[in-house]
Amino acid sequence: MRLNFTSKVWFGPQPVFVIGTYNEDGTANAMTCVWAGQVGEREIVLSLAKDHITTKNIRARGEFTISIATEEMVKQVDYVGISSLEYVKDKMDHVNFTEEHAQFVDAPVFKEFPVTMECKLFDYNEKTEIAIAGIVNMPIEKSVLAANGKPDPAKYKPLVYDSVNQNYMSMGGKVARAFSVGKELR
Ligand SMILES: Cc1cc2nc3c(=O)[nH]c(=O)nc-3n(C[C@H](O)[C@H](O)[C@H](O)COP(=O)(O)O)c2cc1C
Repeated sequence: MRLNFTSKVWFGPQPVFVIGTYNEDGTANAMTCVWAGQVGEREIVLSLAKDHITTKNIRARGEFTISIATEEMVKQVDYVGISSLEYVKDKMDHVNFTEEHAQFVDAPVFKEFPVTMECKLFDYNEKTEIAIAGIVNMPIEKSVLAANGKPDPAKYKPLVYDSVNQNYMSMGGKVARAFSVGKELR
């Protein structure tokens, strides 16, 4: 027996990201984003409301960073999602991120997030408020790499967003190997 719900999208759990941009005056801004996803090996799609300062910055410079939000930073992650620079002029002082200029794009990298992607905007559609961007570099802290040289979620502990109940969750452990476990049913 199933119950029918509304036309809202309940895709959660989904990843949580922090977008980094430079404002017109060269200072940094950060914004939380969960409506984003990977749509290819190097492309991402994001739903970005056009009124956000972050969206304006991305459209002005054509470049931004996106970091995977971590459990350790949950308070700061939520804060940059509930406060806009438009109204809170000292927004970034509340989170105190350590920033440095990204190597390949004109956007800030926040040291507190070990996994970051540097992105170039391909397209922003004002009607749908959908952005498509490409990844040009991924600066990742060595301390979160596994023995195989790739980032290990068990080390950087990504936040997971439960959009149904509006909670930040932690990621459970590995269930099975992808492109592999299904072979048992061949
Ligand atoms: C959990 C969470 C997820 C969010 N996801 C998005 C999103 O995917 N797209 C979006 O446009 N805004 C999203 N927001 C809202 C922005 O982060 C928020 O409006 C922010 O204050 C904008 O900051 P800015 O105006 O300084 O750029 C989210 C907020 C929270 C708390």
